Amino acid sequence: MSVLDIIHYGNPVLRKVCKPVNKFDNINNIINDMFESMYEADGIGLAANQVGIDMHIFIIDISHTDETDDTHIFINSKIIAFENEKEIFQEGCLSLPGIALDILRPKKIILKYQTPDKIWHENKFEGLLGRAIQHEIDHLNGVFIVDRVTELERIKYKAELKSLEKESKDKMGKVTEKKGFLL
Ligand code: NI
Repeated sequence: MSVLDIIHYGNPVLRKVCKPVNKFDNINNIINDMFESMYEADGIGLAANQVGIDMHIFIIDISHTDETDDTHIFINSKIIAFENEKEIFQEGCLSLPGIALDILRPKKIILKYQTPDKIWHENKFEGLLGRAIQHEIDHLNGVFIVDRVTELERIKYKAELKSLEKESKDKMGKVTEKKGFLL
């Protein structure tokens, strides 16, 4: 098991649509790493591409708000229906440190997904869990919370977004340098 680096806004990996999972052989190791990385970063949800894995997987643990709730793993998920009624809720994001935005989303959704045993499920979700699911599915589609607000809202975080972009660019530059030395 290992803790993986959380990738921040500005890295193009987070703008790509993640590939569906076909091979489940190594899935438990990947999921264990994701949980470890999420807990290390004090997150309650994590999408695979946030730790550089191009697979349609996300995990959620909201047991801090509801002790009866267990950890959740969603593979190859798809929202198949949602309620017309929407609500605003403030969301933060591990890939956007220092930014929190009021996001409008449907209150209830019906999600189709697989678990690591390959079994398909179809369930209704609402509350914080339903909210977190919609946030993580956005990640797997290359969408951030900053894309879900008006230009006026986004502009408030212009400086933060610029510095995150620069930081991600610098990190990627370093990786290329290392590769150069290995030649
Ligand atoms: Ni996020």
